[in-house]
Amino acid sequence: MITGGAGFIGSHLTIYLVNKYPDYLVVNLDKLTYAGNLENLKSIENKENYHFIKGDITDSGLVENIVEKFQFDGIFHLAAESHVDRSIQAPNEFAMTNIIGTLNLLNAAKNLWKSNPREKLFYHISTDEVYGSLGSTGLFRENTPYDPRSPYSASKASSDHFVRAYFHTYDIPVVISNCSNNYGPFQFPEKLIPLMINNILHQKNLPVYGDGKNVRDWLYVEDHISAMDLIFHSGKPGETYNIGGENEMENIELVYLLCDISDELLQRPMGSSRELITFVKDRPGHDRRYAIDTSKIKSALHWEPATSPEEGFRSTVQWYLDNRDWLKSVTSGDYKAYYDKFYGTD
Ligand code: NAD
Ligand code: TYD
Repeated sequence: MITGGAGFIGSHLTIYLVNKYPDYLVVNLDKLTYAGNLENLKSIENKENYHFIKGDITDSGLVENIVEKFQFDGIFHLAAESHVDRSIQAPNEFAMTNIIGTLNLLNAAKNLWKSNPREKLFYHISTDEVYGSLGSTGLFRENTPYDPRSPYSASKASSDHFVRAYFHTYDIPVVISNCSNNYGPFQFPEKLIPLMINNILHQKNLPVYGDGKNVRDWLYVEDHISAMDLIFHSGKPGETYNIGGENEMENIELVYLLCDISDELLQRPMGSSRELITFVKDRPGHDRRYAIDTSKIKSALHWEPATSPEEGFRSTVQWYLDNRDWLKSVTSGDYKAYYDKFYGTD
């Protein structure tokens, strides 16, 4: 089972697993919130080894029934409310899905696997944001103390603690990975990269928070998927693996790059998109810097990212420019109301 398989990372993972492992039955459980989109899964929707269920992981009865019915050998848990800005507006929804939803899945796995837990695996997909905020030096390691600072990261940290508690208390085989910021096709345009590309396309202001010097470590989504494949098949139960791109950038540096790639691909005068950059009020509690020490996953599982940042950013901009219908469909309706409320109507 994959939870959240219609979201950004989940849809890449679902497509990858369905195609790579034809003898696995992949069941995708997703509520289809604003962030979930079955369009992303068009290429595999008719495959025999794929099955979609629309459902909410906060519904414990539903989760129990599905887990009982399909007798899963493994669970990739990705379903979550994932956007920090929304968590500042509506924290309770984050606690419900990210904490209670995770607990429901853990309880169902505990009941299902009580007789033969050794062959099974509950893989919890988490974020580097649980570790808090770094100064100008240092890296997050697997043993870095948790220090979440947004309602989103607090809810993910809480879910990570429950997952580890179930490993120790109930002997459920679990593994956790904490990954840095992903980018690539199918990301909902509330997140930095697709939001900027969408605004560049429509020549709207590019809202950079604060001084633009916050640092994120960007990883191409398919490299996260290859790490997840390795962790699921070869990771050690009870362990945590950090995943990152070793590609730290200040936000403003990244926005300049997106502007320049877009100008080139859209054949606009070089530099014209940079003129759209607008510095806006900072996000409350805005984490300054994230950066990951990836030595554990590299040495234990021989993982390496395959996509260079140059290649990844360019192909990502190209994908959004080539898929304007996708952008248009996900940015209509509710998105517009969210955007106007959050950023104003400029
Ligand atoms: P996303 O917001 O694009 O997708 C989340 C998916 O979960 C959507 O399809 C949504 O419909 C589904 N969902 C939400 N609430 C649900 C519920 N109650 N029941 C069932 N389904 C529900 O998120 P994403 O960026 O693909 O992130 C996936 C996971 O990876 C999350 O757990 C996130 O914390 C983690 N993660 C994301 C990043 C990143 O950069 N995007 C980095 C590290 C970790
Ligand atoms: P985001 O994509 O929301 O990811 P996260 O907050 O989980 O790292 O934001 C990435 C960075 O970009 C973060 O430092 C906040 C900043 N940002 C902006 O400057 N403007 C924006 O409109 C958004 C959405 C983000």
